[in-house]
Amino acid sequence: MVRPRPGQGTGDGANGAPFPGALDCGLGGGFQLTEAQFSKLASLVYRLCGIHLGEGKRELLRARLAKRLRATGCHDVQQYIERLEGDRSGHELVCFLDVITTNKTDFFREPKHFEFLVDEILPRLDKLCHGNEPLRIWSAACSTGEEPYTLAMVLMEHRPLWERRGAGILASDLSTKVLEQAQNGVYAQDRVADIPRPLLTKYFQRGTNRWAGYVRVRPELRKMIQYRRLNLMDNFDFDKPFHVIFCRNVMIYFDKPTQERLVEKFRACLVPGGYLMVGHSESLTGIHHRLAFARPAVYRRQD
Ligand SMILES: C[S@@+](CC[C@H](N)C(=O)[O-])C[C@H]1O[C@@H](n2cnc3c(N)ncnc32)[C@H](O)[C@@H]1O
Repeated sequence: MVRPRPGQGTGDGANGAPFPGALDCGLGGGFQLTEAQFSKLASLVYRLCGIHLGEGKRELLRARLAKRLRATGCHDVQQYIERLEGDRSGHELVCFLDVITTNKTDFFREPKHFEFLVDEILPRLDKLCHGNEPLRIWSAACSTGEEPYTLAMVLMEHRPLWERRGAGILASDLSTKVLEQAQNGVYAQDRVADIPRPLLTKYFQRGTNRWAGYVRVRPELRKMIQYRRLNLMDNFDFDKPFHVIFCRNVMIYFDKPTQERLVEKFRACLVPGGYLMVGHSESLTGIHHRLAFARPAVYRRQD
């Protein structure tokens, strides 16, 4: 098992503030990120993963680059850019995107979505799902796994509502680093502090000896989830449409044209009547889309 990194899940840096660990290396304070270099790297980030880094994010980018400069032994940003440009294997690009993405998440984050699932969706699966087909849920930017594991716990707690047909969760993210942590399902005790005690006891194993202070998600929950690296900027190639898509707290990093394209792609891979959940700070107001508003941060495919 891989120990989660200290500080995981804290400080999302979305406001451009420095984040924990940014200045803890020798290069932390001492290298320049010129305007031209910033603009080159920001365009690369936009092209690769849709994340829009405005001028206000220069310090954030500089702080995040420090990790990669240190890991690759590059002496300055220019050398690192050359390294990225000559990266035939794609390995450094993946590592670069791993440090660029903001991964803040929590168990039971924005709980109204899970209440909606329990109160409105699960009791009406006969209308939403075709025949006896299984319920398919996609956690489309799952970060370190808290969102899909919350979904799995909620499903397990309401098993009679879907057991006959079955249910599965696809969890995807761009970052290989967070996907590895999600798959391991190992969390420091303080990360699970807000999970209701009965659920914690039921669905997590307490670590012992060198794992003291950690818990691990039990296998019955882990096996409900399939993980996959997926860039939301790519075309989607799913065999079957989803009944529910969670895409929360990632669209805030995209500009409006990118959000519009993404919402349209989500619409296309939802069943008629299927739901898209977005973060509560990411209303789709102001962008063109063909989904119906169901309630704040919940949208529905109509046709
Ligand atoms: C702030 S986390 C949100 C996690 C979870 N959905 C939640 O609301 O708690 C945003 C996640 O989006 C992922 N992400 C950013 N750009 C992406 C892209 N183009 N494709 C897929 N995932 C992306 C990041 O790696 C990060 O894990």
